[in-house]
Amino acid sequence: MDEKDTMSALTELYEEIKNCRQCEIARYRTNAVPGEGAENADIMFIGEAPGWHEDQQGRPFVGPAGKFLDELLGLIGLKREQVYITNVIKTRPQQNRDPLPQEIVNCRPWLDRQIKIIRPKMIVTLGRYSMALFFPGKTISRIHGTAEKHDGILYYAMYHPAAALHQQNLREAIKADMLKIPTLLAQAKGIPEASQEPVSKQLNMF
Ligand code: URA
Repeated sequence: MDEKDTMSALTELYEEIKNCRQCEIARYRTNAVPGEGAENADIMFIGEAPGWHEDQQGRPFVGPAGKFLDELLGLIGLKREQVYITNVIKTRPQQNRDPLPQEIVNCRPWLDRQIKIIRPKMIVTLGRYSMALFFPGKTISRIHGTAEKHDGILYYAMYHPAAALHQQNLREAIKADMLKIPTLLAQAKGIPEASQEPVSKQLNMF
């Protein structure tokens, strides 16, 4: 896909997401929050679900967790416009409750299409819900800061910025994990496809 095709594919996708009413929560939203960022981004960040601020603006990670994400990106010299940011589900659940299994299932095709259009080199999962899609059965406290390559994409698990915002130990962990991203990305091509162990452990990179 060239740049123009990518853009129109994303624009089309956003329209479909905005018109989607598969889940009950669509009745209560102010805006759907499809995602945003560079259509040729190397890195895609996937959070959990829009919160109040995101619902108001129709943009992902624009509240306190988003401010922290911006700060984390700054640690590796990136601005949010240079990456792609989205969520597992595209509509805010009422009272910011956790996403329901059926909501995650209903929204999955949107995420798969975003990945197909953007073709990132690296997908960074933020928090448990996002991690569960790509590292099934794994525990965030064990695998954060480790990566696995599947079908040419490096999947990398991190804590959710909202969780790390007010807990000093998680704050340090999420910063350290963010700082590993440039090296991983630079080495991504040479990293073998996943077997049992997360690749960063196999290669003893960290
Ligand atoms: N938390 C998320 O998981 N996503 C957002 O967009 C904002 C907060």
